[in-house]
Amino acid sequence: MTSTKLPPNPAPLLTTDAIQARVLELGAMIERDYADKELAVVAVLAGSFVFAADLVRAVNLPLSVDFLGVRSYGDSTTTSGIVRITHDLMRPIEGKHVLLVEDIVDTGLTVRFLMDNLLTRQPASLKLAALLHKPVRARAAVPIDYLGFTIEDVFVVGYGLDHAQRYRNLPYIGVVTP
Ligand code: IMP
Ligand code: MG
Repeated sequence: MTSTKLPPNPAPLLTTDAIQARVLELGAMIERDYADKELAVVAVLAGSFVFAADLVRAVNLPLSVDFLGVRSYGDSTTTSGIVRITHDLMRPIEGKHVLLVEDIVDTGLTVRFLMDNLLTRQPASLKLAALLHKPVRARAAVPIDYLGFTIEDVFVVGYGLDHAQRYRNLPYIGVVTP
């Protein structure tokens, strides 16, 4: 008999119900703010894929969805601020009202880089939706227009967020001790 030891599930920080309730609230705000605008959602791969999927379904408006793949250099739990686009948008965003959707704003360096990049493409407007924010680690100023939750300086996984590519499928947000 093999004795494969599975690590314990990450300790819950935000339950599935709490996340769903907040996503519905954010969706309602976005729906109100973009009622007469051409909304182009840009989701950052891979971490925001679950959040973006739930968020767009909470917005009852005509909208488009596109994806940006990024890789930030650094070790597994911190970012260096040097970001490389690994998958670019499929369509231009010029003249569109762009909503960038991120899983988490930690130092803010990734989102700052992405917003500066998107602004060069001349969208009509650019706003940011982020599920999580860790303000204590901020190194770049990024106003979050639609924020899910502010959290402490802990490393979280689940609901799209990973640690070494694991846990993205966890239906809640939990804390791992790396
Ligand atoms: P930032 O550039 O430091 O704001 O962080 C950018 C990226 O680091 C996020 O988009 C996440 O992919 C990742 N990240 C930061 N904190 C966490 C965390 O607690 N769990 C999982 N990924 C994280
Ligand atoms: Mg990310």
